[in-house]
Amino acid sequence: MQIDAFLKVIEASRFATTIRDSIWMFPIIESIHVISFTLVVGTIAVIDLRLLGLASTQRSFQRMASDILKWTWAAFGLTVATGLTMFSTNARIYYHNPFFRTKMLLLLLAGLNMLVFEMTAGRTVPQWDKARSAPRAGKAVAVLSLSLWIGVIFMGRIIGFTTHPGKVLPPPPGVNFDNFLQSAPSGNSGGTSATPQAPPNPIKK
Ligand code: HEM
Repeated sequence: MQIDAFLKVIEASRFATTIRDSIWMFPIIESIHVISFTLVVGTIAVIDLRLLGLASTQRSFQRMASDILKWTWAAFGLTVATGLTMFSTNARIYYHNPFFRTKMLLLLLAGLNMLVFEMTAGRTVPQWDKARSAPRAGKAVAVLSLSLWIGVIFMGRIIGFTTHPGKVLPPPPGVNFDNFLQSAPSGNSGGTSATPQAPPNPIKK
């Protein structure tokens, strides 16, 4: 099955249709996405700053990481679940959006970067656990990690602005905005009866 056909099936599912047809559901799910990824990025940033010797320098790295990482993984699970839920509502549009793809790529790189940590400075933690900062490889991983997560957030933000045509279209013929301004009710009387009626929208879908 072609990928677009598969994505179309996802979009047409009752699950995706219910969310798409609701005015509240998408914003609620997106809010949960925001809260959970904030927790992911926030906790990872604390660990990165510790590796760089810029925060929590008095605490054992191992102790701190094991306290924090369970929250990171729980929040990551929620982030993926809410992300996939939003994705299902307009799967083909997101799939073909270059910023969505870049975000996924950066997420993958952030994961690989964690693996690099495990294979380098992570192997010798007992040697520098109580030191002010990690060895050079650990610091490099931390800088890359912070940069990648900032990139993920930027890409996440830009998706919403690029899934619709960005061109500002000229007003349709017959609509003159000056007329609206001139016939606006004067003074502060308010009320809707004096509000000019917009002409019917000539754009047919
Ligand atoms: C920790 C990892 C992630 C981070 C930091 C992240 C970040 C973001 C950000 C900043 C937004 C914009 C929120 C807003 O403007 O209100 C967003 C929206 C979104 N994210 Fe994620 N995200 C993550 C994981 C995922 C995953 C795994 C998926 C899907 C597989 C996903 C899919 C989406 C979708 C579909 C949107 C809505 C875009 C829109 O139409 O505005 N995200 N994400």
